[in-house]
Amino acid sequence: MRIKLFLLLVVMTALMSSAFSQSEATLTLQTDSIKQTISKNIYGMFSEHLGRDIYDGFWVGRNSSIPNKDGIRLDIVKALKAINVPLMRWPGGCFADQYHWMDGIGPKDKRPQTVNSTWGGVTENNNFGTHEFMELCDLIGCQAYVAGNVGSGTVKEMSQWVEYLNSPLKGSITQLRKENGRDKPWHVPFWGVGNESWGCGGNMTPEEYVDFYRRYATFCHDYPGAHLNKIASGPNGDDTHWMDVLMKNIPHDLMWGVSVHYYTIPTGNWAHKGSATKFAEDEYFGTLKRALEMSKVIEDEEAVMDKYDPEKKVAMGVDEWGVWTDVEPGTNPAFLYQQNSLRDALAAASTLNIFNNHSDRVRMGNLAQTVNVLQSLVLTKGPKMLLTPTYYVFDMYKVHQDAKLIPVELSSPDYVSGSEHLPAVNASASKDSTGAIHVSLVNIDPSKTITIRTSFKGTKWNTVNGNILTSENFNDYNSFENPVKIKVAIFSNVRKENDELLVSLPPKSLVVLELK
Ligand code: AHR
Repeated sequence: MRIKLFLLLVVMTALMSSAFSQSEATLTLQTDSIKQTISKNIYGMFSEHLGRDIYDGFWVGRNSSIPNKDGIRLDIVKALKAINVPLMRWPGGCFADQYHWMDGIGPKDKRPQTVNSTWGGVTENNNFGTHEFMELCDLIGCQAYVAGNVGSGTVKEMSQWVEYLNSPLKGSITQLRKENGRDKPWHVPFWGVGNESWGCGGNMTPEEYVDFYRRYATFCHDYPGAHLNKIASGPNGDDTHWMDVLMKNIPHDLMWGVSVHYYTIPTGNWAHKGSATKFAEDEYFGTLKRALEMSKVIEDEEAVMDKYDPEKKVAMGVDEWGVWTDVEPGTNPAFLYQQNSLRDALAAASTLNIFNNHSDRVRMGNLAQTVNVLQSLVLTKGPKMLLTPTYYVFDMYKVHQDAKLIPVELSSPDYVSGSEHLPAVNASASKDSTGAIHVSLVNIDPSKTITIRTSFKGTKWNTVNGNILTSENFNDYNSFENPVKIKVAIFSNVRKENDELLVSLPPKSLVVLELK
């Protein structure tokens, strides 16, 4: 009897202490070890000639009744400008390696009708080409990142595209640009040399790709006033062999960076990825688990890069990432149109925390994709436009752009699902040029509020305010019927206790705090 009572007490004590520890996290902000800058380019976007991203997305044409500037939809421009989109990658994706840029310049009625064989075999009327893309970037106020065609193009074609966009020198290519209405070069800073050359970009071996890269990179060069940051087509996820061959064989002065692509598939099964809005907790957990694996992908690839480039001169650009679900029922499977829930916002916020915390190597990121495709910021239906929960993440996190990273030390309780567990909380922090500190916190646990006690090494602060993004259910989303179901709200469950910060972070929420 005594033994039984003793065992019961032991079990109860264990349960009580685990219940207690499960709701508390501690965070230390190393404000005394601020070094690197979080590049604003981590907050970049990706837009491809795919489904309704460009056509019936950004591009509605001049004759549309939807307000536009030279055919470019202005409500989308306004929304992207408001979140300081710093960079836009275009025209693909897989489409980049089938795109011939000369099809998309000159009078629209003379442009050829081609077939987008990558994405559904639809007719590509080439109405949106180089000039339209550059105008879009100008309107948004972002930099351009152009992906060149290595798979089905030539060195000459890509080098002439660079000349067309960047050269101030006299020649027939720049003359052509002038005849098409643009006198001055645009100075496009970022150039991708192919896309997924291990797959849709040519099914190459890394050794073959290296040979291509060296030739392309040699002939795509700087022009006066226009330095080219060339980006090699990097690995699929944590294929470290691909990275190893590139880092070993491409002279580092020939490349600004190497790309990495990593998508979060909710079920982990490409054949049945899972619905964007109808899922239970096991799939919610699986999605967050796979999104958090981004940190392993980055660390594995970074270890290879460090071996050849310990000074971290070559950047890693995660130029395609995001949650990829099944398409919305009844839509063209080749158009990759999906809804976007609170779960996806939590995945995006966690990913951006990972990027911030690895910003010594990760100096570019491009969410796939911006409008009506995959994990979009914006969805459109005729004249209607809505902002997804992921849009609000980029809005809340814009404070980290070009701010100084504050390294964080975090001890988090677990979010347990069945026999699996994940850290419930993730975080990143930065200090901006005015001295304000921003802390972004994510609680992926769908049912537990977590108290976070934060201490600061080497800094004092007086005031705190913040914003929160959450909703009743993790699969809630903004629809055309209810476009503001999920939106940013003021967060006040936070207080100062001596020099510490106490935050009560609700289940399935993300919060960004500003301390001054
Ligand atoms: O973003 C959709 C596709 O995913 C891109 O075209 C390709 O690069 C990747 O496989």
